[in-house]
Amino acid sequence: MSVRPNSAAARDIANHLHPYTNARKLEAEGPLVIAEGKGIYVYDDSGNEYIEALAGLWSTALGFGEERLVEAAVKQMRKLPYYHTFAQKVPLPTIDLAEKLLQMAPGKMAKAFFANSGSEAADTAVKLVWYYNNAIGRPEKKKIISRIKAYHGVTVAAASLTGLPANHRDFDLPIKNILHTSCPHHYRFGESGESEEDFATRMAADLEKMIQDEGPETVAAFIGEPVMGAGGVITPPKTYWKKIQAVLKKYDVLLIADEVICGFGRTGNMFGCQTYGIEPDMMIAAKALSSSYLPISAVLLSDPVYQGIADNSAKIGTLGHGYTYGGHPVSAAVALETLKIYEERDIVSHVRAVGPRLQKGLRRLADHPLVGEVRGTGLIAAVELVADRETRAPFDPPGQVGAALAARAQAHGLIIRNLADTLAFSPPLIITEAQIDTLLERFAAALDETAAWVAQEGLASVA
Ligand SMILES: Cc1ncc(COP(=O)(O)O)c(C=O)c1O
Repeated sequence: MSVRPNSAAARDIANHLHPYTNARKLEAEGPLVIAEGKGIYVYDDSGNEYIEALAGLWSTALGFGEERLVEAAVKQMRKLPYYHTFAQKVPLPTIDLAEKLLQMAPGKMAKAFFANSGSEAADTAVKLVWYYNNAIGRPEKKKIISRIKAYHGVTVAAASLTGLPANHRDFDLPIKNILHTSCPHHYRFGESGESEEDFATRMAADLEKMIQDEGPETVAAFIGEPVMGAGGVITPPKTYWKKIQAVLKKYDVLLIADEVICGFGRTGNMFGCQTYGIEPDMMIAAKALSSSYLPISAVLLSDPVYQGIADNSAKIGTLGHGYTYGGHPVSAAVALETLKIYEERDIVSHVRAVGPRLQKGLRRLADHPLVGEVRGTGLIAAVELVADRETRAPFDPPGQVGAALAARAQAHGLIIRNLADTLAFSPPLIITEAQIDTLLERFAAALDETAAWVAQEGLASVA
């Protein structure tokens, strides 16, 4: 890509430090400048159309042109463009949103706290667990167990929970009191001949051993995404969550469900917790909460957790935590409208109807010479590429072939994300079967081209 002087791309290079980007590569090649969006499509500044098969960052569930969300924002902006939720004050839409979210949430959620991003919600969950355990007189019970390959965000506590090397390396993370147990990815971490069931049992045993080794009196909470997203779209074995929850109950360890990707229909139920029979004590949500039209996230708490926190706030005189924009009225109004649309259009039934088209379509590629595993559920899926299908050997260096495939897909008008050599799919939930077919055609073409290139370069044992 050549960058024209004074173009938008050139000005971006001159002025902007990008997240999750190789800054020197960006300087050399420039960004893809996205100018417009409509439905499942986005358009670059030259007018090229792309299917946004990751819904941005697993987030714009209603696609890019939902007028009702625009109107909800404009209406609220005119009425009350900003107010906060500190010191016993609250704007009206925030009240409505908390009520609606709790009606929709699974299980025993009793209160909602608002923040602006998934990372802030994860940080809040960690802080509230610590605050709660101090409040109820067990100040030594503070460790939080996350998982290898987990993704919970990038702020200091959230990045510590995240179990990916790039989020720790040279950031001096993780912080103390955060641990990472095994990742429930059978294809990668299952032992030879080990069934998914036995693997799930081993995962639970690993967790139990970690709790015992650390001392159960020091372990406060476990956090997990129902389906792990940015770590590679990892769908756990069927009984994994049941077995994990039995261990947590045994040692009185709270369960925090990270629904930031899975929440609001993605897995074919309103929440991933329902898909996997998870009964959390706390839950975090963001992204599809507002279809990502405006930043907003939520932390939901069970009543016992709330009661402990409430008592402590009375003892201290305040809950010393909160964000200037937490529960922002415009974000809340847009989120509320988003949730109404999910219900009115029965987005869950739509995902159940069209999800199999994506899952089956990708599984048809399972025998492709570059493909090791195809996995997913509902409208979230991944294709993992391998250098050798027999041994499951990954490419070396990791990510090179995945990035090449993502770039080829982009040239075919398809935006997907490579997580090293795993290609992730998480399209807007409004996608139709015909659009899924086009997505699959574009992906298959890019995959074949990549296989030809890999063979030519001698990067794998491609037949
Ligand atoms: C499961 C999960 N939790 C938390 C986060 C962090 O959210 P944010 O990027 O809004 O801080 C993400 C972001 O992708 C996520 O996928």
